[in-house]
Amino acid sequence: MDNGQERRKKTVAESTTEQVHLIMQQHLNGSGRLFGGALMQWLDEVAGVVAMRHAETHRVVTAAVDNLQFKQAIYEGEILVLRGYVTYVGKSSMEVEIDTYTELPDGMRQTVNRAFFVMVAVDENERPTQVPELLITTEAEKARNEAAKMRRSMRKQRRENGF
Ligand SMILES: CC(C)(COP(=O)(O)OP(=O)(O)OC[C@H]1O[C@@H](n2cnc3c(N)ncnc32)[C@H](O)[C@@H]1OP(=O)(O)O)[C@@H](O)C(=O)NCCC(=O)NCCS
Repeated sequence: MDNGQERRKKTVAESTTEQVHLIMQQHLNGSGRLFGGALMQWLDEVAGVVAMRHAETHRVVTAAVDNLQFKQAIYEGEILVLRGYVTYVGKSSMEVEIDTYTELPDGMRQTVNRAFFVMVAVDENERPTQVPELLITTEAEKARNEAAKMRRSMRKQRRENGF
C-alpha cells in the first residue's frame, strides 16, 4: 500500500462538505416526519464526497457507520444542512463526522443528528489504498481527532469480538 514516496498531507477544510435540503412532501414518512432512510442516504452521500475529496479518488467505500443518533423530528418546510468533515485518517481509512442541523430563517442552527462514517479508499482491484495524511490546524480539530482515535480503538475491539 505504501509507494515509498513521502505521504501528502491535507487539511480538514480541503474536504469539508455541506449539503442542503428543503424538506418536501416526498421526503416524509407515514407519520409526517422526515423518513429516516432519506436522511441516511444523504449522510452516506456526504460521507462519500468528503472521502473522495480527501483521498482524491472516486473509489471510496463505506466500511462502517456508527453512532447514528436522531435527536429530534424534522418536518416539511424545514431547511436541513448536513456538514461533513474528516476527523481522523489511518492508512486507507478516514473517519468522517457528519453533523446535521435544521436551519431557521435567521440562520440559527439546531443539531438534529450526528453520525460517524468510516470510509476506505480502494484501488482498481478493490484493495485498500493509502490516502493523504490529515493536517490538523485548530484546537477543535485536535480534540475531534483524539475522540476519533478512541472510536477507532473501540471499533477494532468490536470487530475482534465479532459484533
Ligand atoms: C472496507 C474494505 C475495503 C476493507 O477491506 P479489508 O480487506 O478488511 O481491509 P483491511 O483489514 O486492510 O482494512 C483497511 C482499512 O479499513 C479499516 N476497516 C476495515 N473494516 C472496518 C470496519 N468494519 N470498521 C472500521 N474500520 C474498518 C481498517 O481499520 C483499515 O484502516 P487503515 O488502513 O486506516 O488502518 C472491505 O471490507 C470492503 O470492500 N467492504 C465492503 C464495502 C462496501 O461495499 N460498502 C458499501 C457500499 S460503498
